[in-house]
Formats: sequence, C-alpha cells, structure tokens
Amino acid sequence: MAETLTLTARDKAGRYAELMPQLDALIHGEDNLVATLANVSSALRMAFGFFWVGFYLVDEATETLILGPFQGDIACARIPRGRGVCGHSWAEARTIIVPNVDAFPGHIACSSASRSEIVVPILREGQVLGVIDVDSDLLDEFDEIDAQYLERLSKLLAEKF
Ligand code: SME
Repeated sequence: MAETLTLTARDKAGRYAELMPQLDALIHGEDNLVATLANVSSALRMAFGFFWVGFYLVDEATETLILGPFQGDIACARIPRGRGVCGHSWAEARTIIVPNVDAFPGHIACSSASRSEIVVPILREGQVLGVIDVDSDLLDEFDEIDAQYLERLSKLLAEKF
C-alpha cells in the first residue's frame, strides 16, 4: 500500500468517494486489527485534516470503551457505557452527530479545543464492537455526508474484529 493518498476533489463528498477505495485497500491489505485501525485513523486525518480521529473499542468485562488507535492529542483512555458522546453511541447503537459539544449534556472534553463531533458505532449482528470518533475544532463540522461514509467504513471494519 502506498504511503500517500490520492485525493483531488475539493468537496467533502468527492474526497470521501475518492478515499473509500483507498480505505478498502488498507483494510483488506492487513489482517491485524490494531495496524488496520491505526492506518485508517491516519488516512482520515490526512484526507480531511480533522482535529482528532480514532477508535474506542468495547470491553464487555468492564462495560467501558477503551481507547484504540488514534491520530491527535492524548485522549481519555476509558469511557463508561452511556457516558459522553461515545458512550451514548455504544448504548444506543447509532450514529450521533454533535454540532456543538458544549450543548451535549455529559460530553467528555478530552480537549478543550474540540467543538463538534461525530461518533459512529461499529456493529456486527446488532452488537457494538467499538466506535469511530471524529472531532473537529470547528463548530458544526459534521453532517449526513460524514455519517453516510463513516457508516460505510464502519461496515468494512466490522469484518476485521
Ligand atoms: N468527546 C468524547 C470523548 C472522546 S474524545 O473526544 C477523544 C465523548 O464525549 O464521547
């Protein structure tokens, strides 16, 4: 796999459309989960310059999400089920878009620079295995385009768990 991404589109949907086959190649070119998640978080950050991109993985024994591979500032290592945006996404098994993190009750501020966020669960047979967490330092960064493509990514990743 090349060390660079090939992205020419300037608009978000166009960039996601170009990125998806490259993410697919990253995902199918490596069996190891940690290596795959590490490269996917890097690719998303390279493509969009997001403030923070990473994964939290479900630990059923402790009912917590545990920090996985990510790109960005040091983050909270563990998030209990139902807490914060990530914990809600896990508990409700659905994508959550937060246009303004200060207006989300219980938001866990790993970084004061984070302004908006999207969290997408990684699901297999209805079971949440982990979440994709993307944070922006801009308000209202995420929309249905992000949700649509990150949910597609989540389905590709679910096969690797
Ligand atoms: N903001 C998240 C916590 C994770 S960090 O943003 C990396 C939340 O409330 O779930």
